[in-house]
Amino acid sequence: GAPVVADISKLEVGQRMTVEWRGKPVWILRRSPEVMEGLETHKDNLRDPESAESKQPEYVAGVSRARQDHENIIVLVGLCTHLGCAPLYRPEVAPEDLGPDWYGGFFCPCHGSKFDLSGRVFKSVPAPLNLEVPPYYYMSESLIKIG
Ligand code: FES
Repeated sequence: GAPVVADISKLEVGQRMTVEWRGKPVWILRRSPEVMEGLETHKDNLRDPESAESKQPEYVAGVSRARQDHENIIVLVGLCTHLGCAPLYRPEVAPEDLGPDWYGGFFCPCHGSKFDLSGRVFKSVPAPLNLEVPPYYYMSESLIKIG
């Protein structure tokens, strides 16, 4: 499949946009400084907080799972690693239905898998792995090439 270029110049903090790459939805999310700080402190609920086992390019690393020069921008394949449903973007903190341990993330309505705002999977849910990070690079400050 051909690479796809995403223009993130209008993407605001907290917003998520979707582009299609190889027939799959790819999400791009601009995270706030508060969210970035929380990625380090909320690790206890996560199965693979450092993404040792999950699919991602080697140039994304650590809890941000993003390129170091634009660490607040996360790029994720928007398909649940359980059976491929589309998780919902749920950025709010501790909503009634997801409980006090929820700091914003992605919730899969099919069988209840939960992922944080780095796409890291929670413990005790059916999905085995973090959401996939596709290959991507910055053509400029506002253009990302995926693929
Ligand atoms: Fe997402 Fe099963 S497909 S939890």
